[in-house]
Amino acid sequence: MSKLRSLSMAMYVDVVFLALTMSQIMARMVLVGVENYTRADFPADFAFGAATSAYQVEGAAFEDGKMPSIWDTFVRAHSDFYGGATGDIACDQYHKYKEDVQCMVDTSLEAYRFSISWSRLIPNGRGPVNPKGLEYYNNLIDELIIHGIQPHVTMYHMDTPQALEDGYGGWLSRTMVRDFTVYADVCFKEFGDRVRHWTTVNEANAFAIGGYDNALIPPGRCSLPFGLACTKGNSSTEPYIAAHNMLLAHSSAVKLYNRKYKGSQHGFVGLNIYAPWFFPYTKAAEDIKAAQRAIDFYIGWFLHPLVFGDYPDIMKKNAGTRIPALTRHDFELVKGSFDFIGLNHYATFYIKDDPSSHKMEIRDVNTDIAATIMYERGDSSLDQDNETSSGLYEVLEYLKRVYANPPTYVHENGQRTVRNGTLNDTARVEYMHAYIGTLLRALSFNDSLFLVFHLQNIGRNGANSKGYFMWSFLDGFEVVGGYQKGFGMYFVDLSDKQLKRYPKLSAHWYSNFLRGRSIGPNEAIEAEHQHFVSSTAKSSW
Ligand code: NOJ
Repeated sequence: MSKLRSLSMAMYVDVVFLALTMSQIMARMVLVGVENYTRADFPADFAFGAATSAYQVEGAAFEDGKMPSIWDTFVRAHSDFYGGATGDIACDQYHKYKEDVQCMVDTSLEAYRFSISWSRLIPNGRGPVNPKGLEYYNNLIDELIIHGIQPHVTMYHMDTPQALEDGYGGWLSRTMVRDFTVYADVCFKEFGDRVRHWTTVNEANAFAIGGYDNALIPPGRCSLPFGLACTKGNSSTEPYIAAHNMLLAHSSAVKLYNRKYKGSQHGFVGLNIYAPWFFPYTKAAEDIKAAQRAIDFYIGWFLHPLVFGDYPDIMKKNAGTRIPALTRHDFELVKGSFDFIGLNHYATFYIKDDPSSHKMEIRDVNTDIAATIMYERGDSSLDQDNETSSGLYEVLEYLKRVYANPPTYVHENGQRTVRNGTLNDTARVEYMHAYIGTLLRALSFNDSLFLVFHLQNIGRNGANSKGYFMWSFLDGFEVVGGYQKGFGMYFVDLSDKQLKRYPKLSAHWYSNFLRGRSIGPNEAIEAEHQHFVSSTAKSSW
């Protein structure tokens, strides 16, 4: 009996040992990165698409009843920064949406993420709906649906109707919560029969900092010493107030959707944040803590209230009374108010502690974080994955671990290049290849032995990600760089009156991937390149 027991004990040890070794091998295979993969490696209902926003591609800025937004005002006030360029015409998607949808079909896109211009739909931000605006978005949505492309719609992408900005200060006032909810109601009512994926606010965190702290984006508010040429604003308080009101407006729109539309429309409403990853610059405990602060301030700023009902402790501690408190009523409204989180992920940063910040009498968000953000790591011996795209993996793992693995969409991921450069954008292909491979790794892999062994049985056990959108479908009007820089898969020839679109190598690559070809970076680039150079340059395909 005891022999039998020791035999089964030995077998048990062997099995456990084998299991551990297998799990390590599998983990290793996954960790070194998924090099060759196909569309079929992703779940069938995972959505692959491309993204744009209204101001950046639509044009027709003052046509058919559209009134100005803070974007229109900002680019005029900063014409030196944009070299006089504006989004007045941009890619003219307003008139060329059919052509654009055809390009999407040619690229085999499964989904298109675009934003609705609030001041096109409701020109003064509140009040009557503009029939022409309604007609345009109905047409665009119908055109997508006819071609089997899912519309993923963002309701706010940095473009407060100017009337509301002038009327009461836009996001600085709680009145925005009510006006945004009424606007969302119009969107759900008019388009919700065909749109199932709604995002309330794009990059709520980055917009709060860019718009109200360093003034790099509309409405361009800041106070010295935190921004350049500040004429109005308060960088110490306004980013927190604007973010707070965005959070409440988002939650109020979700509440409305759930009460009034969810039962019949069966859609999903989420919020989008800018989500880079932050590694510590060195192994020093101060840098590790500083990196955690950066994560709490950037990601926790919205995720913490949405999941737990309150801001992260470190934010409340460092910003003190400058961060509005979430009242009992706010807590009830905000906690749990999302179906998914949209992530705009472009890069990884390295964080160095900066204790001097806290000695400053006047502080802004970055000095509240008390850290310096670096683009390069300081200590190469750090136990960190050297591959740049690994930051996306880290973000998804963090959300899984800290915020109970919410459903996410990678709403933006892309590579900036000089706009009038080559159509042969190999750097963009490499970038997309690496990030999509990393996403696959995050979706499939879980380092828990139990889950690794259940992979085949229950499918995915990693990140709860539902889709990937490359930024950007077209070379549009870029937030930083105007028409000098581009993220597009399609080049738009601004010197041509027709604004003809030309697919870049990345469009061919993405299309091949979506059509099910196995894609390794070099083989794919080489094959695409051969095809590409042999076809007439700048000819549509
Ligand atoms: C963030 C913004 O959502 C988008 O408007 C911008 O063009 C891209 N990222 C690239 O900077």
